[in-house]
Amino acid sequence: MMVTPPFMEPFRIKSVEPIPFPTAEERRNSLAQAGFNLFRVPARQVTVDLLTDSGTAAMSAAQWSAVFSGDESYAGARSYEGFEAVVRELTGMPEVIPVHQGRAAERILFGTLLRPGEISVANTHFDTTAASVAAAGARCIDLPGRPDLPGNTEDSGLFGGNIDLEGLERVLRGPEKVRCVVLTVTDNAGGGQPVSPANLAEVRRLCAPRGIGVLLDASRFAENAYLVTRRDPEWVRASIPDVARAMFDLADGCFASLKKDGLANTGGLIALRDAALARDCRNRLIEVEGFPTYGGLAGRDLEALTKGLHEVMDPRYLEYRAESASWFADQLETAGFPVLRPTGCHAVYVDAAAKLAHIPAPELPATALANALYLAGAVRVTDLGTLVFGGPDPEGGPDRPAPREWVRFALPRRVYTRNHLEYVADIAAQVAAKATALSGYRILEQARTLRHFTAVLAPLGEPVPFEH
Ligand SMILES: Cc1ncc(COP(=O)(O)O)c(C=O)c1O
Repeated sequence: MMVTPPFMEPFRIKSVEPIPFPTAEERRNSLAQAGFNLFRVPARQVTVDLLTDSGTAAMSAAQWSAVFSGDESYAGARSYEGFEAVVRELTGMPEVIPVHQGRAAERILFGTLLRPGEISVANTHFDTTAASVAAAGARCIDLPGRPDLPGNTEDSGLFGGNIDLEGLERVLRGPEKVRCVVLTVTDNAGGGQPVSPANLAEVRRLCAPRGIGVLLDASRFAENAYLVTRRDPEWVRASIPDVARAMFDLADGCFASLKKDGLANTGGLIALRDAALARDCRNRLIEVEGFPTYGGLAGRDLEALTKGLHEVMDPRYLEYRAESASWFADQLETAGFPVLRPTGCHAVYVDAAAKLAHIPAPELPATALANALYLAGAVRVTDLGTLVFGGPDPEGGPDRPAPREWVRFALPRRVYTRNHLEYVADIAAQVAAKATALSGYRILEQARTLRHFTAVLAPLGEPVPFEH
């Protein structure tokens, strides 16, 4: 058999889009006009955009041709039937509800399921998930895995997305009214690390006798399944659909942003076993999203997703994705940054606290690093530090720090080649060389929730000049 490097793109390019190359002055102006918040910088001022892997995928020729067969009927569209069949086959869950993106699924599902004062426990709730739990008047408890604890030792860091089982048992035995346990697969806020089937099975064992629902945030279900086949000897020979199905079989329901492993630019879903809960979700959906067979999407979007959910499980594509993330982590490490290992699939996470130890958490080291990458070469990444996961101190003191100061270099699906990533590594090396000269930021304006999307910041020092 001919051997190809695993990170060679297993596709060729049929349609292209030029990318912008703003000058140093344009970059400085764009960032200042954006209130030093990369979410507010226009995409036309970005050369390589690694802000997110969400909704940024390149669709295949098969998806684009399916788009033309979209059935745009208001009710009972044929495009829904195809989508429903694929999701049922994938998850084994009979109740399939499309929505326009992940947070719509979260708002509808948690708004229906949770009562004020109740608790949702997770490995880590993603920020939008946490916002929906709070909007329902309920409370989140995050229990990220602790490989050092008894019961979790088999993972030895390979399943960094696992929930802390000992902590979970303690919460379940306590006085709190836990309504559901959520496993985010893979754990985006926790470094894109996978959850093992064994961990999920334990969660089910603890929850089922207590009548507590187990839910998957399945936004990256295929990437999680692939990493399971690489890291768990029990699943080495299993196919991706089989691993994914084994995980879904252990859950009572799931929700997902299909802007990730749906390989499309918009979409989301809720899939459930409980018909009564699904009926209540559909009634809520009608108020905010549309009719239950389109859920805020066009028929053509459903067609693209139906194909995308198949394509994403191609083992060669997933291997390329995992290997290119790992290769990219090597490049960033060579550039001088501490990176999270082992890498997952959708991003490489850099530890800004370690690299910018002179910037304390309330001065937003992850933001400082992300902004420097933009100023140096119009590379856009995202801050997953105190701006995102910290918060204002209720007493008016300095910001509550996040548990980690990560910068995430997300990898849009099928969009950038190795050359683009080599350019990013080059820019990263320029920033790393001047890391000690970078200064932090303070927040001038912020929203009460999800503040990072719109916050206005001010630099606490002079900008550092870069080469070009
Ligand atoms: C794990 C996870 N859950 C939920 C969401 C929210 O999805 P959306 O952006 O489609 O609303 C995201 C988005 O990044 C995510 O990574």
